[in-house]
Amino acid sequence: MKVLGIETSCDETGIAVYDSEQGLLADALYSQIKLHQKYGGVVPELASRDHIRKTLPLIREVMEKADMALTDLDGLAYTSGPGLAGALMVGAAIGRSLGMTLGIPTIGVHHMEGHLLAPLLEENGPQFPFVALLVSGGHTQLVEVAAIGKYKLIGESLDDAAGEAFDKVAKMLGLPYPGGPHVARVAESGNRDRFRFPRPMTNRPGLDFSFSGLKTFTLNTVQEHTVDGILDEQTRDDIAWAFQEAVADTMVIKCRRALRHSGMKRLVLAGGVSANKRLREKLAVMAEEENGELHYPGFAYCTDNGAMIAYAGCMRLLAGQCSDLSIQVKPRWNLETLPALD
Ligand code: KG4
Ligand code: ZN
Repeated sequence: MKVLGIETSCDETGIAVYDSEQGLLADALYSQIKLHQKYGGVVPELASRDHIRKTLPLIREVMEKADMALTDLDGLAYTSGPGLAGALMVGAAIGRSLGMTLGIPTIGVHHMEGHLLAPLLEENGPQFPFVALLVSGGHTQLVEVAAIGKYKLIGESLDDAAGEAFDKVAKMLGLPYPGGPHVARVAESGNRDRFRFPRPMTNRPGLDFSFSGLKTFTLNTVQEHTVDGILDEQTRDDIAWAFQEAVADTMVIKCRRALRHSGMKRLVLAGGVSANKRLREKLAVMAEEENGELHYPGFAYCTDNGAMIAYAGCMRLLAGQCSDLSIQVKPRWNLETLPALD
């Protein structure tokens, strides 16, 4: 089954074709980062308008790359939530209408299910069941995954998402949006011993996260070391390192707990923050200590992309699921409410 995937939930237009027999056939991505950078974050109305401009040309590009005509498609999948309402509406309206015109089954996909299944696009993807750590700009969740659609939320952030915390710390450090990759880059030149930041909520039992205290701690450290309005570059890098280390260690502690608590051995890391090399390194060491395995998507499929939506949609369409003709989006949508495949 050849499925076109359309992702427009935030500031990336992602399009791909996934074939259940041959794997990923083609994909393309347009990032709106430049458009939003001068505002220091995503401006929803500008995001929607840019998705309108980019979605159809990208679909044409992907069809050409895959050497296919639209009439060769067997199914269509678009992100229907969670995300920015206007941005979601663009992908949903285009996806739903195109599906109806082509007369093929069409499905609205949960964005976080897309992230969660992205490691299955890799050659040696994880077997079920597994524990997933979903870390993106909008979510930080630990999920027990028995199979596709069988999700149990076992922990989540009580305030900011991990990616959001990276983005806010980047702003404090004078780095551009989106901050995660920039914090990671400057952290490489950071002194490993100068600062030690707290590992929030690790001293008490449970699998929930909180990043607001760590954010305030970071802000206080920045302010303490700002002289005449200037934070010197080395101190900036040292703070970036200490912050990244605190986030990664916190995740290692919670993931170890989640593996032990669930009795599972496989850990899947997904979502934009899964591109973070230090986090991958530390989780890999922990997984080995626990005699388990760590899986994550290829770099291109950590942040938002069309391939993960095409894949998740394809799995559901193959099981006979599809959405009706209404154009609906769910800006808020609980992962646990998704149906199982059987
Ligand atoms: O999954 P994603 O593309 O979008 C959402 O669904 O939110 O995640 C974007 C988030 C941003 O907050 C970005 O700063 C973060 O992922 N991110 C990173 C890295 N690359 C992207 N955070 C830390 N380290 C990275 N290398
Ligand atoms: Zn995402």
